Amino acid sequence: MPNDTLILKPGCIEGLNQQIVNEMHASLQYLAIASYFDDEGLPELAGHFSRQSEEERQHALKFVKYLHDAGTRPVFKGIPDVRNDFSSATDAVQCALDGEIKVTNQINDLVGLSHRENDYMTHTFLQWFVTEQLEEVSTVTTLLQVIKHAGPSLLLVEDFIRRMPTETEGADA
Ligand code: FEO
Repeated sequence: MPNDTLILKPGCIEGLNQQIVNEMHASLQYLAIASYFDDEGLPELAGHFSRQSEEERQHALKFVKYLHDAGTRPVFKGIPDVRNDFSSATDAVQCALDGEIKVTNQINDLVGLSHRENDYMTHTFLQWFVTEQLEEVSTVTTLLQVIKHAGPSLLLVEDFIRRMPTETEGADA
């Protein structure tokens, strides 16, 4: 769609561009967590967070596609630093949960903005992310509980992850 048919509100465009960065930040943070678990010799946890990293990248691409579809070329900005050092598996997964809660708040803020700007196209587009955040916060909360139950027996967590369905199984990621 050419630019002279702009249908998005400027405030929403800025917010949508920012969310591309936020999702890429989440992707990079998950990659750092996956690398931590890889380094610790825990391949299932590493694989889980590597898949999460790819999902976040796909989220960013959804925003890119939406902006293009709506006639606006995305503006890409730099990704802020992520945490690379973790004191334990619990610390690393708590970092993941904190990140998901942060993204949930970012999505909620965008939904509020789209409503205030009467941008109901963007409001509708964002509903997928609202549902997705519930799933992601729930999944990482469960994983954190399992890690706390397992204590030092992280091989039990590896077994738990092996039995988990991947989030992309049967879903339109
Ligand atoms: Fe795309 Fe988990 O936030």
